[in-house]
Amino acid sequence: MNKTVEVLPDQPALIARALELILSKLETAIEQRGRFTIALSGGSTPKPLYEAMPTAGYAGANQKLPWDKIHIFWGDERYVPADHPDSNELMARRAWLDRVDIPAANIHPVPTLEANPELAAAKYEQQLKEFFNSSGVEFPSLDVVLLGMGDDAHTASLFPHTEALKVSDRLVTVGNKDANPRITFTYPFINSARSVIFVVAGANKRPALAQVFAPVADDFTYPSRLIQPQGELWWLLDAAAGLELQH
Ligand code: 6PG
Repeated sequence: MNKTVEVLPDQPALIARALELILSKLETAIEQRGRFTIALSGGSTPKPLYEAMPTAGYAGANQKLPWDKIHIFWGDERYVPADHPDSNELMARRAWLDRVDIPAANIHPVPTLEANPELAAAKYEQQLKEFFNSSGVEFPSLDVVLLGMGDDAHTASLFPHTEALKVSDRLVTVGNKDANPRITFTYPFINSARSVIFVVAGANKRPALAQVFAPVADDFTYPSRLIQPQGELWWLLDAAAGLELQH
């Protein structure tokens, strides 16, 4: 695993750096494999990042991103319809996807209309396997999995001391926040990504980060510790979150 920690002076700088890093992964993926696959996170931190995407570009793309080569997934989703205010899909569509000419077929939301969360997780897993044409035991690799981290050190919908943390033989499972079911990538599937990028801001995340970065701590209490990808692991922090980690 190749781990990089960057502490940016403030939240706008954090978002600008996250955008720059994602665009560089996007350019490389399209050059090398003809497409770019990314799983989005929910929460408030990435919203300005999504809002910046419609005007993003890079020299190789003469400033307009090749939306037909870009595929969007979600690393976790609340078990609600796509028009529910809590929907991660709705947030990303309003902030970004409705504002660019990305083909509808390139947007791969979690099928939350299934009769129960377990069926939704199983169906999403099947859709992922079909997309990546992976029937074997190996986990397919997305180019980027974008993650946030809660102040309880959860990531995606892998919450402390929940059953989801024990699932290691599937791509997608059911997470639980209090009594609210979530659909979430499993930690081994996240770890199969070419690059995992955490974007974390705010002083309230400092105690959790200290535990996640500690040489020894309980993974089931601090689930973000489970994210140890074979590929690249990026922690992008603002100074408020990353203060103690700077030295
Ligand atoms: C979700 C997210 C979740 C989020 C963290 C951090 O569905 O809510 O995927 O894991 O990333 O809770 O949220 P903030 O960015 O709002 O602090």
